[in-house]
Amino acid sequence: MAQQQTFVIIKPGVLQRRLVGEVVARIERKGLRIEAMKLITMSRELCERQYAEHKGKPFYDGLVAFMSSGPSMPMVVSGEEAISTMRKLAGATNAADAEPGTIRGDLAGVTQKNIVHASDSPESAEREIALFFSPEELNPWSDGNHDWIV
Ligand SMILES: Nc1ncnc2c1ncn2[C@@H]1O[C@H](COP(=O)(O)OP(=O)(O)OP(=O)(O)O)[C@@H](O)[C@H]1O
Ligand SMILES: [Mg+2]
Repeated sequence: MAQQQTFVIIKPGVLQRRLVGEVVARIERKGLRIEAMKLITMSRELCERQYAEHKGKPFYDGLVAFMSSGPSMPMVVSGEEAISTMRKLAGATNAADAEPGTIRGDLAGVTQKNIVHASDSPESAEREIALFFSPEELNPWSDGNHDWIV
């Protein structure tokens, strides 16, 4: 089991729905470590770079417009197998398929507005963290001897 960093975005609309605390609480309760977090409004250009892999797909233009439509919160989250753990916490992409108990299953009614982004591979995590954070903005920390926390 490897310690990993992953990249998460609390997407636009979550602030308006007053659900930031709910999403952050689920990440914390799982024992993951929040090592960077900020509140920004993404430019169209940044959204296009973040979601470049989807260029040309039917949902791409709407996704870029939505992601740049209001404030969002990029985060760096660390922990054991953090990439797959965070994807499982988020749940399925499609709002109707996302299982109850997951962030999307419990909180998302519309696929485009599916509450969180979470990196899907170590390569994506590394690329996305560098896209949103400078090295000085990362704050690695450990639980020391407090193993019971996680
Ligand atoms: N069929 C669709 N209709 C509308 N929006 C979609 C659709 N498919 C994907 N999206 C939007 O594009 C985002 C990126 O799609 P992707 O296939 O990468 O899913 P994901 O990896 O679960 O999500 P994310 O990359 O945001 O973590 C989705 O989270 C969703 O907001
Ligand atoms: Mg994705």
